[in-house]
Amino acid sequence: MTPIKEVTFVLGDALEIIAKHSDPAALLYCDPPYINHEHQYRKKVDLKALLKLLKVSKAKIVLSGNSHFSPDLKGWWMDRKLVANNSSPDNRKMEECVYTNFPSGGIRL
Ligand SMILES: C[S@@+](CC[C@H](N)C(=O)[O-])C[C@H]1O[C@@H](n2cnc3c(N)ncnc32)[C@H](O)[C@@H]1O
Repeated sequence: MTPIKEVTFVLGDALEIIAKHSDPAALLYCDPPYINHEHQYRKKVDLKALLKLLKVSKAKIVLSGNSHFSPDLKGWWMDRKLVANNSSPDNRKMEECVYTNFPSGGIRL
């Protein structure tokens, strides 16, 4: 495993930042709002536009979310885990998925 030598935090609109960093030397971690939970955040993102952009990006992408993204990301890799859902009143667990556009140990979609 290669250690990450340089990390840059950029504040701005996700779609603009992703488009600007379409570079094989970049690794972008995306943690967008869950589908149907967009209203919980002040900032909005068009999830269809986000996926479209991620699919053509030359960067290495790590995307977290739920299984709703799977049909759109054929050929990507996906790993899933049941995790604590802190907003559930009965402590029900929820599924968290991590997608990558490079081999990462998960299943190939
Ligand atoms: C699931 S949360 C991510 C939380 C973050 N990973 C953390 O651990 O604090 C989704 C975040 O995306 C932000 N967001 C929504 N639309 C955005 C956009 N167009 N550009 C940048 N951020 C956006 C929301 O405001 C929210 O903070």
